[in-house]
Amino acid sequence: PLVTTAEVVAGARDRGAAAAAFNVITLEHVEAVVLGARTAGSPVVVQVSENAVRYHGGAVLPLAAACRAAAEAAEVPVALHLDHVEDVHLLHRTAEAGFSSVMFDASKLAYDDNVAATRSAAQWAHGHGLWLEAELGEIGGKDGAHAPGVRTKPEEAQSYVAATGVDALAVAVGSSHAMTSRTASLDDGLIARLRDALDVPLVLHGSSGVADDDLRSAVAHGIAKVNIGTILNVAFTGAVREVLAADERLTDPRTYLVEARRRTADVVAHLLGVVSGER
Ligand code: G3H
Ligand code: ZN
Repeated sequence: PLVTTAEVVAGARDRGAAAAAFNVITLEHVEAVVLGARTAGSPVVVQVSENAVRYHGGAVLPLAAACRAAAEAAEVPVALHLDHVEDVHLLHRTAEAGFSSVMFDASKLAYDDNVAATRSAAQWAHGHGLWLEAELGEIGGKDGAHAPGVRTKPEEAQSYVAATGVDALAVAVGSSHAMTSRTASLDDGLIARLRDALDVPLVLHGSSGVADDDLRSAVAHGIAKVNIGTILNVAFTGAVREVLAADERLTDPRTYLVEARRRTADVVAHLLGVVSGER
């Protein structure tokens, strides 16, 4: 069934685990995430980024409608989240597109501008019954180059959450977006200090670059939502490449998409077991 992101995150927290949120680009990704969650027997968050919306020609509704239909039909709880929104026009479409939560990303702005933009985004979201995530301390890798050096400062984060009223905070603790090797080194001590300083859930972005044991440790130190994208694309595209290479005359896209979807679902099920299992 379709549930809210707030419910999935709170439910995971109650079990001493974290919610896993997977980025989807195509219908096959959506199907793979739901299939993987069913295999793991775990609630899941399906998220669509502003970048993915741009890929679909700026249209958010078709993919969002597919996510919603898949969530409603799912045997496990599925929540829908709109990810990394910088465009206020897209933010304002969150509710009508069927998402229960949105990440508003003003992290490229200077601190005071980030606070002002995020505060008004949070006010808008709360007026529409939505859960709003924001980012402080820019997490690297969004523009291609990896810059994992930035860190979120606990005291600044405390003022930021108080000034903006956000429901969750994406923190820079050593991860970086779009890594294809799982070699990031996280600062668990900083995660614990952020958890102690804040009363909102902490979100780890760029989790594809984090090894299983390091993900477990990050959750144990206070990460409540784990965002995963790239590692699904590594599995998906790897499968497509293999199937196509094996038969040059193949034309039916279902031949390679079925394998891509299956392998992506396996990765989803595995990672759900890592971050969202009972402990
Ligand atoms: O918001 C999305 C996540 O931060 C995904 O990052 O593609 O590096 O796993 P990733
Ligand atoms: Zn992210």
